[in-house]
Amino acid sequence: MQPVRSRIFGSSKELSRRRFLSTQELIDRDDKYGGRHFKPLPVVLAKGDGAHLWDVEGKRYLDFLAGFSTVNQGHCHPRLVKVMREQAGKLAHTSRAFYSEPHGELGEYLTKLLGWDRFLPMNTGVEAGDTAIKVARRWGYRIKRIPTNQATVIFAERNFCGRSIAALSASTDPNCYTDFGPYVPRFDKIPFNDLNALERKFKEDPTICAFMVEPIQGEAGVVVPNDGYLKGVRDLCTKYNVLWIADEVQTGLCRTGKRLAVDHENQRPDILILGKALSGGVYPVSGILADEQIMLCLETGSHGSTFGGSPLGNKVALEAVKILEEENLAENARKLGDIVRQELEKLPKDIATEFRGRGLLTGLVINKDLAEGWDICLKLKEAGLLTRPAHGQILRISPPLVITEEQLREGLNILTTVLRSYK
Ligand SMILES: Cc1ncc(COP(=O)(O)O)c(C=O)c1O
Repeated sequence: MQPVRSRIFGSSKELSRRRFLSTQELIDRDDKYGGRHFKPLPVVLAKGDGAHLWDVEGKRYLDFLAGFSTVNQGHCHPRLVKVMREQAGKLAHTSRAFYSEPHGELGEYLTKLLGWDRFLPMNTGVEAGDTAIKVARRWGYRIKRIPTNQATVIFAERNFCGRSIAALSASTDPNCYTDFGPYVPRFDKIPFNDLNALERKFKEDPTICAFMVEPIQGEAGVVVPNDGYLKGVRDLCTKYNVLWIADEVQTGLCRTGKRLAVDHENQRPDILILGKALSGGVYPVSGILADEQIMLCLETGSHGSTFGGSPLGNKVALEAVKILEEENLAENARKLGDIVRQELEKLPKDIATEFRGRGLLTGLVINKDLAEGWDICLKLKEAGLLTRPAHGQILRISPPLVITEEQLREGLNILTTVLRSYK
């Protein structure tokens, strides 16, 4: 029988061979041992710095995806890496069985910065969304006095809240929910950007505790609602005593050119969900913000998470948000977003039928007669630019917010050259 080490890791000869696997071999290994629920672009990345990524062969790319709007601070931001290292070497995890300094420190910083009473940290965006729904249902029963087990939550069609059973129950995308039933009951859906539909629902159903909506639908292909939609949502939720949950996992933290996407209309939801850029991608941190009367509907023992609120996660998140603030990254997103719009709106309609977005959360709808989004992304990869399509034909342009104007223009030049090469 082989010794344990070689049974687990292979022989030392095999090990040294493995260190030099080619790109294709690395991809094949992934394909053989991993799940098949996601299809990565065929590039194997090994290093990142700011707006750049490098593959295992040393080729450099501009990153126009930023980990689906997560790496707003840029790859391996030195301040984030430093804090991560220091805190990991000091105290990484305690669980919430005990207090640790960074928990209160992050809570105080975020609540004062964003203007809610309390912050509850979780890990991933979907968990923060689930937490928001739990809080809203609790509030529905204990404050609004909805009869037991009848609280209804309304979602906008084509939303994306993640992949949990609650999130897929809220989804209207068959890829997300098919054959995962039975679904969470009393989740209802209405069209996005339709205040009349929202009011009709509120009028006919007194069991509604919350309306959960993204201020811009990111995964649906960067769908920006009409001006006034967010104000309308706020007014209707107030009028009908329904909580407004804003899912800013993707739009939040400077991505759209303001600290929050709801700031574009100066509106304040009852519950705000953050994730992704809250940690700059170096550690999963998410959370919700709400005022006292709502947040404290979760009393001791009613919610929790092993990792949520860890000293490491909190310290990283604190630094991540300070970087966004101190480096004025909302302003950079606004300024550079204008350049993206100016340049891409010049494309003729037989290349791109529509440009959408705000700040550096943008999408270019490619004419379906030109080429498939996936095929274009393969060509972009060859030319040194990485991104992915949403819903087949919508190319995402959402680079790290630290990208410089020169780097952005270089990336846009690659993009437009590749698109024009199809004609
Ligand atoms: C708006 C929104 N909510 C929730 C999520 C889920 O976040 P996570 O993948 O961290 O669970 C996402 C992810 O893309 C998102 O865009």
